[in-house]
Amino acid sequence: MTVTEIDWTLLHREAVSVMGRAYVPYSKYPVGAAAVVDDGRLVTGCNVENASYGLGLCAECGLVSALAASGGGRLVAMVCVDGEGALLMPCGRCRQLLFEHGGPQMLVAAEGGPIPVAGLLPNAFGPQNLADRNASGNTAAEVDKSAEARQA
Ligand code: THU
Repeated sequence: MTVTEIDWTLLHREAVSVMGRAYVPYSKYPVGAAAVVDDGRLVTGCNVENASYGLGLCAECGLVSALAASGGGRLVAMVCVDGEGALLMPCGRCRQLLFEHGGPQMLVAAEGGPIPVAGLLPNAFGPQNLADRNASGNTAAEVDKSAEARQA
């Protein structure tokens, strides 16, 4: 799956379609998201709100759950739309979700052209920050340093 193979028109159509299934009795602001995965399959999600307002799930949350439930993989490109079908930029929390499952190069449709997640979440905190630490919470460099100190 390469950047030139991304069918943005199809992603937009799928995003609008799933937006129609959003559960938004409180905000009345439906959102739909559709993405292509690195193996070519499509995943979608819509926002699902809750009477306990803070528990509402963004469309991108549903999309990421669909990604995992349908076999995982990496997100390559996503279109997110509002109730009118206009492009919607992911909220801050969802940018973090996209960074986790698509990485910095994943493309997000935007007015003026697709934007890589790295541009939406500069200097991101991510899986690598945790991978650089061992179970005791030390960075690899700190572990090396204390091993050297013990040997001295
Ligand atoms: N919403 C999303 O689904 N995705 C976003 O990236 C921004 C906001 C939803 C959450 C809530 O159900 C509604 O839009 C209004 O904030």
